[in-house]
Amino acid sequence: MRVDLFRMERTQCLYEDEVEYNLSESGVLPMRVDELLEGSPDPEWLRQARLKYPPSRGSETLRDRIALFYGRDATRDHVMVTNGGSEANYVVLWGLLERGDRAAIMIPNYMQGWGLARAYAGKADPFRLVERRDDGRRRWALDLDGLERSVTRRTKVILVTNPNNPTGAVLTDEEMDAVTRAARRAGAWIVADEVYRGAEVSGTTTPTFWGRHDKVLITAGLSKAFGLPGLRTGWIVGPPKTIARLCSYHDYLTLTPTYLSNYFAEIVMEPKRREAILERTRGIIRRNLPRLERWIHTHDDIFTYIPPRAGAIALVRYGLPIGSVALFDRLRRDQSVLITPGAHFGIRRYMRIGYGGVADRLKASLARIDTTLLELQRRPASRGRSAHATSSWSPSTACVFRSCSPAWIRSSHRKKSVRGSTTSKGRERGSGATRPKNGAQRFCLSSGATSRSRGSSSATSGREAASTRKTRTCSPPQVTRRS
Ligand SMILES: Cc1ncc(COP(=O)(O)O)c(C=O)c1O
Repeated sequence: MRVDLFRMERTQCLYEDEVEYNLSESGVLPMRVDELLEGSPDPEWLRQARLKYPPSRGSETLRDRIALFYGRDATRDHVMVTNGGSEANYVVLWGLLERGDRAAIMIPNYMQGWGLARAYAGKADPFRLVERRDDGRRRWALDLDGLERSVTRRTKVILVTNPNNPTGAVLTDEEMDAVTRAARRAGAWIVADEVYRGAEVSGTTTPTFWGRHDKVLITAGLSKAFGLPGLRTGWIVGPPKTIARLCSYHDYLTLTPTYLSNYFAEIVMEPKRREAILERTRGIIRRNLPRLERWIHTHDDIFTYIPPRAGAIALVRYGLPIGSVALFDRLRRDQSVLITPGAHFGIRRYMRIGYGGVADRLKASLARIDTTLLELQRRPASRGRSAHATSSWSPSTACVFRSCSPAWIRSSHRKKSVRGSTTSKGRERGSGATRPKNGAQRFCLSSGATSRSRGSSSATSGREAASTRKTRTCSPPQVTRRS
């Protein structure tokens, strides 16, 4: 089966352990085991635990506690525990989508659902969050007309990420209703990735899609709002019959959660503890965000910024003549700082900054970004180095996915295997991994029909994307996998 390259994850995997400052993380500083076990009656259990298989759907206690997080008649039968939110998304889309179906997907987005929908259904239709001014305040708003256009009677799944990654936006009640109406009209499933729910800046937990429509599947987990990505605990909440069906897909994957994670997750999801942990997350967000914002506002001449409502992520639009992937590369190579380029989320000329880490390190990493920004303001990126990235830009031009020929992917995998070796850095510089070669595919996304341009030089297609934006829904590059 062919799958698109999941650019954000692949890139993060390659570089996150190499750089001095990693701002590509979207969660908060992870909790330590001793913090988690604080108040636990007998931590000795950990040493004595027999590492057997846990129940395949997760223990009853854990599923009961997860169900409580959703209320509205959710019970343990509505819950299945997975290995991470990403496995939850995988199982859901694998289980729901057949070739010929369509999935309508909110953009910008963590693009896992986009890649999976294209792999299993063949097509994905974007609808967008757009920058809008409401009551004098700018916010990310759902493009309701775009939603209407994207959801047709062939739509099997409407995928929303709420709170959203990378914007940090939270849908209003009216927007959630619009999604629900569209799903009812099409007889489609709403798949709501709510992995950032609980990490709100304001402290008010985002309303869930659970209970709004009879065909709702929630995916979530402990990696983001709970600050426990290393537990690799996720879950799916849905109608019991569908959950039972999805279990038979999980049987072909990882069978069960891990025994220790299931146990830790029981501790986390005990309601009082759960709220205390979410409060820890919000505390980090509330402490760090103003520091980041002070820095952002020192760049008001080049940045446009809508504050996130949830998640330890801030999305900044910049007015500099350099594409987001080229900027990402430059910061990584010159400053040893990792950000996430907008292109990895389906949008151009944005960078996402993760601010949930240690505050002092945030300050130091932002100072390094300053150095590069200053250089770019003095001397724009050279044509030869990033001609593809400096194509004229209009804010409404949606997204650029670039390149990734099979050679790119092979070289990426090679690099991963040599990561940490003394030669790895030199090899990366010369590998061309970030520079599309002639013949590399170039892809972009915008509302409308689907097309793909092959074989064009990246600089040319960059201009094309800007000038013919109405026609393109482009697909990211593909990797061939043996099944
Ligand atoms: C929206 C969204 N869903 C799922 C995931 C993956 O979660 P996990 O680490 O639990 O697999 C991420 C990770 O960044 C995400 O941003």
